Amino acid sequence: MSNNENAQILVVDDEERMRNLLKKVLMRQNFYVDTASNGIAALRKVEEHPFDIIIADVRMPEMNGMEVLAAVKKTRPDIYMIIMTAFGSIDSAVEAMKKGAYDYITKPFKMSEISVVVEKALEEKRLREEVESLRKEVRIKYKFDNIIGKSKAMQEVFDLIRRVARSSSTVLIYGKSGTGKELVAKAVHFNSPRRDKPSVSVNCAAIPDTLLESELFGHVRGAFTGAIATKKGLFEEANGGTVFLDEIGNVSPSMQVKLLRVLQEREIRRVGGAETFKIDIRLMAASNESLEEAVKRGDFREDLFYRLNVITITLPDLKDRQDDILLLANHFLIKYSQGERRAKSISREAGNLLLKHDWPGNVRELENVIERAIALGDHEEISVEDLPDNIRNAGRGPTQNDILSEDVTIKELEKSYIAKILKKTRGHKIRAARILGIDRRTLYRKLDKYNIEY
Ligand SMILES: Nc1ncnc2c1ncn2[C@@H]1O[C@H](COP(=O)(O)OP(=O)(O)OP(=O)(O)O)[C@@H](O)[C@H]1O
Ligand SMILES: [Mg+2]
Repeated sequence: MSNNENAQILVVDDEERMRNLLKKVLMRQNFYVDTASNGIAALRKVEEHPFDIIIADVRMPEMNGMEVLAAVKKTRPDIYMIIMTAFGSIDSAVEAMKKGAYDYITKPFKMSEISVVVEKALEEKRLREEVESLRKEVRIKYKFDNIIGKSKAMQEVFDLIRRVARSSSTVLIYGKSGTGKELVAKAVHFNSPRRDKPSVSVNCAAIPDTLLESELFGHVRGAFTGAIATKKGLFEEANGGTVFLDEIGNVSPSMQVKLLRVLQEREIRRVGGAETFKIDIRLMAASNESLEEAVKRGDFREDLFYRLNVITITLPDLKDRQDDILLLANHFLIKYSQGERRAKSISREAGNLLLKHDWPGNVRELENVIERAIALGDHEEISVEDLPDNIRNAGRGPTQNDILSEDVTIKELEKSYIAKILKKTRGHKIRAARILGIDRRTLYRKLDKYNIEY
């Protein structure tokens, strides 16, 4: 719908003269125009034809304009409706607008008036479609499965996932807590040729060693007290698919040997069993600390490290993905806006605080913050008051942008500057006072005044 020629209009009126007149005028403006003499016929035409706009008379026998409006809103909410009301019946005009009509026009009207209303409706519709297609583009570009990110770092991660997914190579995922390691592991699996096979995930830190072994490798009957039946392990269950070992840095030396064997021989033996089974699995592992460091310290086997370290995907801390913070915040806003609890936007000041926060809990922390703000706030907009204290009293100090923006008062600037210097001196007040160029007593007074704790 880029010009009038492509715009399609349906005129609905029981009065023939009116239908013909409107048709003539609108066709002169190069619109495609069709007419219907009653509501039922109109709805049938709507089903068959992609109209952009419907102009309907409110007063018609059988099905009136209001009923046509209601029916169209249900099946084709994208159609803009203009209702023609009788002179003096302001009530029906109000009702039409309430029910979602785009506009109304009072009979009798000049033909130039209806042209203006139609042009306006079309312009708005075009604009909305443009925004919608832009949004879609953003969604496609900044999203990989459920992973959101437009930062350069995340775009590189998407690219890497796409490339490694095709192969069966072992993947090692690095990232602090809450950076999305599990999400990435899932994306790799579901974009790989193994997507229809099982994918199992084991948190190695959460399970004691002996249990972990039987969990992964299974056991035969009588292998240990309580092993009343032979049980398959997760490696067997996941045969043909993917196994994700989370927090691999935490497995014991003896377990490391067993995992090394799996990677080298591609076979497993159940606890207490004699037989070995060939398995075909893709292994992925995650760690929140450098395994290379762990190798250096002697906590992790070098040979296992090399087997795992075929392809590495590193997820940066959220604070190093500034471009993603608001995008993610809006993503979670939509995710947690349901039913009564909904917020449509995030205020500019709240957004600024989100950008300044350090996010030690990374994306998970941001997700929790937004969920909480929606649950507790009762506004359409998430504002500063809906954010937790630690984010509101952001200690990172003003950024270049804040200093340039007019919203920051000298007081706020002073407060965050003092907090920043104190952080730098690790709470050492004499040194902080010296850097700030004030005496110690003045510093104490300001700490008190601004409620800064150190
Ligand atoms: N880029 C992202 N886009 C959307 N949601 C994300 C993103 N990264 C993380 N999340 C969400 O944040 C939460 C934490 O992610 P995930 O469990 O993958 O992190 P993790 O690195 O495995 O954390 P941990 O080390 O604590 O296990 C999940 O709810 C996940 O859906
Ligand atoms: Mg995890």
